[in-house]
Amino acid sequence: MAQHRVVLLPGDGIGPEITDVARRLLEVVSDRHRFELVFEEQPIGGSAIDSTGEPLPASTLEACKASDAVLLAAIGSPRFDSLPREKRPETGLLGLRAGMDLFANLRPVKIVPALIDASSLKREVIEGVDLMVVRELTGGIYFGQPKGRLEADGDERGFNTMTYSGSEVDRIAKVAFEIAAERRGRLCSVDKANVLDVSQLWRDRVDAMAPGYGGIEVSHMYVDNAAMQLVRDPRQFDVLLTGNLFGDILSDEAAMLTGSIGMLPSASLGSDGPGLFEPVHGSAPDIAGQDKANPMAMVLSAAMMLRIGLKQPAAADALENAVDRVLAAGFRTGDLMAQGCTQLGCEAMGQELLKAL
Ligand code: IPM
Ligand code: MG
Repeated sequence: MAQHRVVLLPGDGIGPEITDVARRLLEVVSDRHRFELVFEEQPIGGSAIDSTGEPLPASTLEACKASDAVLLAAIGSPRFDSLPREKRPETGLLGLRAGMDLFANLRPVKIVPALIDASSLKREVIEGVDLMVVRELTGGIYFGQPKGRLEADGDERGFNTMTYSGSEVDRIAKVAFEIAAERRGRLCSVDKANVLDVSQLWRDRVDAMAPGYGGIEVSHMYVDNAAMQLVRDPRQFDVLLTGNLFGDILSDEAAMLTGSIGMLPSASLGSDGPGLFEPVHGSAPDIAGQDKANPMAMVLSAAMMLRIGLKQPAAADALENAVDRVLAAGFRTGDLMAQGCTQLGCEAMGQELLKAL
């Protein structure tokens, strides 16, 4: 029987609640599809700061690197916002991404028919949306040097550097081209080449690769226009290729096409080694511990882990189908609640998902 070692990183806020739901579902599908999952929990983010003083203990990073896949719930809490940056929960997540060399972040955005009226956008605009954000995850302004704060001439200054090397652009563009080839064959690369040199390099490298992928239709869009087009006519997009910061912003925007950010999973991959699978949403400290969280993005992230990370597509299908069935039956968490539906908490939603398996 195949055995996969999975590191669970519940993290902060609603993280532990949604991790419980995902874990119970994973235990059932692995049993049913005849493979074994060996779980190991590790601390990260604010909970790791509380227990070890560090947002990413070395033992957590080591366990993740030695695993077959990592499933992370969420990190972050306002309690830590006043700590120096190297001690904040977010720094733990960035350290994990960098430490595992997870340069490619895939964020699929697909409309679930049962949720079409949960979106703040009109049905005619979002019906049939099916796009993939391919976000560069270990470079750009998130990691560029120099960065910092200083005082000079009686004033203060804060600065970060947006920088990409040609090879960093090439490796993420290659991922996007290959995904586009498996989908509808359209790649839109997002940049700000009308202003930024780093973006002109990005655009030039994508253009230089295009002839190698004859079947792919390549276009470029400035990020401000992309933000507008995502709400004006999102169906025009198949694969959106972005740098780290632009992808962060556009993927939250794209999430709202589906009605709630509580529905969006993601996968972060390197060139080899284990992947990291996590919901796009954050730790939602305002509803943490109140049994109100939507566990579905976490469950769908677990499905991505099964499909991409562990090569267990049948088990991944089973989880995705369970989500569809529960939604079609009218069960909703508070973030998605609509007239005529049944509102459930996180735990009860987990029970319904188990029944739907
Ligand atoms: C995301 C999050 C993170 C990011 C934060 C928590 C550091 O917003 O995964 O989109 O900015 O990448
Ligand atoms: Mg984000």
